Amino acid sequence: MNDVINLLLQHRSIRKFKDVPFSREQREAILSAAQAASTSSNMQAYSVIHITDAALKSQLAELAGQQAYVSECPLFLVWCADLHRYAEAAHRHGDTPITGNAENLIIATVEAALAAQNAAIAAESFGLGVCYIGGLRNKPADVSELLGLPQLVYPVFGMCIGMPDQEPLHRPRLPQEAVYHENRYTANPSAVSAYDETIRAYMHRRTNGKVDTTWSKEMAAKALRPRKHMKAFLSSQGFDME
Ligand SMILES: Cc1cc2nc3c(=O)[nH]c(=O)nc-3n(C[C@H](O)[C@H](O)[C@H](O)COP(=O)(O)O)c2cc1C
Repeated sequence: MNDVINLLLQHRSIRKFKDVPFSREQREAILSAAQAASTSSNMQAYSVIHITDAALKSQLAELAGQQAYVSECPLFLVWCADLHRYAEAAHRHGDTPITGNAENLIIATVEAALAAQNAAIAAESFGLGVCYIGGLRNKPADVSELLGLPQLVYPVFGMCIGMPDQEPLHRPRLPQEAVYHENRYTANPSAVSAYDETIRAYMHRRTNGKVDTTWSKEMAAKALRPRKHMKAFLSSQGFDME
């Protein structure tokens, strides 16, 4: 195809990292790539916090559900949806209230994700590996307090970055016909059934036959663990979702 598409197709999450620091130039290039992402009306409604303090990293690893790679990775970033800066800028020109309504919440969350994914691809282009850490939303209020997040800012996810010290199998994705539609949405349960068997075979390979599961089983298990605290947490950070 081409180098960019080949790079994208090589992605797999990395959860074990070599103890190799990387250069300031690399970090700055990764963040410049993040900042180059498209942004709704140029709002740039996100912030990213680089965790350089080892003790703080350990606390975040714990809060994320004891994910050790959070404290072990050379670079840990927390991607935040951020309407605080937007509100402050707008208030320089009047007291129009800026709220964390549903539309603004969507914009800020999407922008954090677009910037983060650009960073992920930039990191992978240097031969580094990444892993998103949604586990930070297990205890979002504690994370926000530790990071000093003001109103209208919330942690969307973290991201581990570093030199891979493992070669995990690529996790197969849904068949394209499950996610691709022409003109009109058409559900495709048979593609999901086929994918169940793909994931069963993948998990067998990955665990040397120890785990027998399918995608739909994993989704059923996930549905039993909703992060129900998110609505109240977002509201406490000023996202009223009106
Ligand atoms: C928003 C988001 C949150 C995630 N949170 C975690 C996490 O907390 N811990 C983890 O080990 N992986 C996490 N992941 C990684 C996914 O598990 C992984 O991307 C998915 O299983 C597909 O595997 P792959 O990235 O290796 O292709 C997260 C991914 C995304 C996009």
